[in-house]
Amino acid sequence: MGPDVIPAGIAETDFGPCPAVTEAVHGMLERGDLGYPDWPVEPLAEAFCGRMGSRHGWHPDVAHVRHVCDLIQAFQVVVELACPPGGAVALHVPNYPPFLRSLHATGRRAVGCPLVPADPDRAGGSGGARGWVFDAERLEEAVAKTGASVLLVVNPHNPTGRVLSREELTSLAEIASRHDMVVVSDELHAELLHGSARHVPFASLGDEVAARTVTITSATKSFNLGGLRTAVAHVGDARVRSAWDRLPPEYFGSLNVVGVEATLAAWREGDTWLAATCRHLTAMRDHLVARVEALPGVALRPPEATYLAWLDCRGTGLGDDPARFFLEEARVELVPGSEFGAGGAGHASLNFGTGVRILDEIVDRLAASLAPRQG
Ligand SMILES: Cc1ncc(COP(=O)(O)O)c(C=O)c1O
Repeated sequence: MGPDVIPAGIAETDFGPCPAVTEAVHGMLERGDLGYPDWPVEPLAEAFCGRMGSRHGWHPDVAHVRHVCDLIQAFQVVVELACPPGGAVALHVPNYPPFLRSLHATGRRAVGCPLVPADPDRAGGSGGARGWVFDAERLEEAVAKTGASVLLVVNPHNPTGRVLSREELTSLAEIASRHDMVVVSDELHAELLHGSARHVPFASLGDEVAARTVTITSATKSFNLGGLRTAVAHVGDARVRSAWDRLPPEYFGSLNVVGVEATLAAWREGDTWLAATCRHLTAMRDHLVARVEALPGVALRPPEATYLAWLDCRGTGLGDDPARFFLEEARVELVPGSEFGAGGAGHASLNFGTGVRILDEIVDRLAASLAPRQG
């Protein structure tokens, strides 16, 4: 971005690392401890399982945890193992663009289940209103028709910030069971919840569900560690797990010591920092929801999780790619909605993981760019 552009697209916050992470990484440097590690087989497995137990009451099997560099890699591996070339993968649309790109690149078809406004006439009130819904019957019909063998569940959802309820997750689990699908559950944003939203790990729905689910997550969103490329997959599906384990370890690469040390510190000692971060993000979300009123033709259903706002700009008359207009005219970088697949045109994703001064500057710039278009 040029120096006059405010980047508000890519999903990372403006916040520095949590002190526990800084301390852990400093400690490694002070000890000069950057050599080859001497780890048990999976260095993050116990910490991950402990965290799932204490935060969500889900008790994953330590022996089913595998490391990956990032979540898309894990998704791509599962698709390779559980869906033949030319086969189909079901997922909500719009969806996080790299998932769609990964399917395209590997020659699999994306079967989109539209996530649509619960009440198309209103942008929705504040505080976790169920702003987005999907039609499970329609999804099941599409799965039956296409023979989709993998279901991707991104929950909390990017780009809408929807946190799916236990009932919605159960309806997805039932479809997966009836059609013997492998479920990939991306729960990366699960620790950044607003208001009364509660996260239900997909695999916690029951033993049969856990046995067909690959849960993928990392500390990257909660603790803003995106550059460390360190993530985990809990491979509950025995068929996928044995195929995964037959692959040569080089296929996955090995984890780096800084990423592991930082993730362990974040998961074990970062919760006070994380709670404060969440309070701040909720305040920023509420501030943005209030200020969106200043943007004629832009609607926002308040996200229930994370720091991404899915701006519906179809009322502005800016066409399919409002992000391009905002980059050119407001010098604010958003992610174009069309990258998120069906239902994304006319939308843009705005990152509010910043402070109030910068957020206000973003909204002021967007408002000023729209003003000449009024009357
Ligand atoms: C829903 C979702 N999944 C996966 C990713 C990828 O995260 P990472 O590159 O840290 O693995 C992101 C990043 O924004 C995301 O929002």
